[in-house]
Amino acid sequence: MGSVPIVEDGLAELLKQGLGSGALAFSTDNAWGVDSADFIFLCVPTPQGPNGRSNISIIERVATEIGPHLAPDAIVVNKSTVPVGSTHIVERALGREDVQVVSNPEFLREGSAVQDFLHPDRIVIGADDEASAIRLSALYLRLGAPVLVTDPATAETIKYASNAFLATKLSFINAVAALCEVVGADVRQVALGMGYDPRVGSSFLKPGPGWGGSCFPKDVAALIGIAEDAGYDFALLKGVVTVNAGQYERVVAKTLRLAGGEVRGKRVALWGVTFKARTDDIRDSPALEIARRLRELGAVVVAYDPTVHGPLDGLEVVGDPYAACVDVVALVIATEWDEFRWLDFEKVGGLMERRAVVDARNLLDPAAMRRAGFTYEGIGIV
Ligand code: UDX
Repeated sequence: MGSVPIVEDGLAELLKQGLGSGALAFSTDNAWGVDSADFIFLCVPTPQGPNGRSNISIIERVATEIGPHLAPDAIVVNKSTVPVGSTHIVERALGREDVQVVSNPEFLREGSAVQDFLHPDRIVIGADDEASAIRLSALYLRLGAPVLVTDPATAETIKYASNAFLATKLSFINAVAALCEVVGADVRQVALGMGYDPRVGSSFLKPGPGWGGSCFPKDVAALIGIAEDAGYDFALLKGVVTVNAGQYERVVAKTLRLAGGEVRGKRVALWGVTFKARTDDIRDSPALEIARRLRELGAVVVAYDPTVHGPLDGLEVVGDPYAACVDVVALVIATEWDEFRWLDFEKVGGLMERRAVVDARNLLDPAAMRRAGFTYEGIGIV
């Protein structure tokens, strides 16, 4: 009790403060947790179910369990990402006429969740009942963020559409990166030039090994499913997913090429296992997908990540980045950990069987790497 089991900036301090002041307490007893609360936030997982559809059985079960214990006029706030229409499913599961259910999606990023929570871009509230929307928005008043009050279905759609749009932006820049490689352009400059236009915006324009994590893949698949169930073929989003899968493959193809066309029986180093830096989350990590495909080609993949320790299925995980490079035919940089920039690449090169680096995050200086005798490929850079 009192420790944070995940890597998340600032969370341990907040937890300590909350527990110390008595503002925060934990219990596994549903009645104790809710019977005197004005607001009950549901923050449970909605894992991916069959055909990419979102599985809301956990939220339904929780609602059924807490329903009888809720105080009169309590507001149940749904933070979980749920398919459109789920607010009403929660209402039914609660079985309480006097309790309102409000949708209030979260937009927190892993690694900066505390910062994002305290400084939100917007608060979205989806409610059928205006008084409940006003009561909930008062909770957020001090944060000074714009509050959008709408109906539940619209709030639920905003969450999915936001994530799907960001995934679209990433697949777009990854596709532009592929184009840059064949026409001899530099995607970093292209993104810079595009980003100055405020209609495009400069964020989420860094090409990489593909997007992953516990949200984008699940939410994009769920939105495609939601659309399909409603009779709309979201072909654009299907293309976004296809481009993403192709991006993993592109990194693997680069590795194979730089390794001399063959990795069977050879060692390949993988720097970065998490789906992005500043987290220890490896769920749906592009790094793991790339490792899996390299292993399918017969490679022995040796991984290093500052937050991932212990063996992973089929992967050798070592405790320092140099140890990963011993006798390898290529090094793949899959996560943008800052520490990778500052390593001794003379030492790295000396350990490798071939001085070949696939920098899937464009972390390093291509010219400096090539001067140091490496064959080097980034993403969208010639
Ligand atoms: C995302 C949304 O950003 C957040 O609003 C929502 O609440 C949850 O899903 P998160 O999963 O933490 O947050 O990851 P995010 O920072 O959005 O990155 C998603 C993926 O895109 C990662 O694999 C990341 O490496 C990749 N990415 C992101 C890029 O490849 N390039 C970029 O420029 C930005």
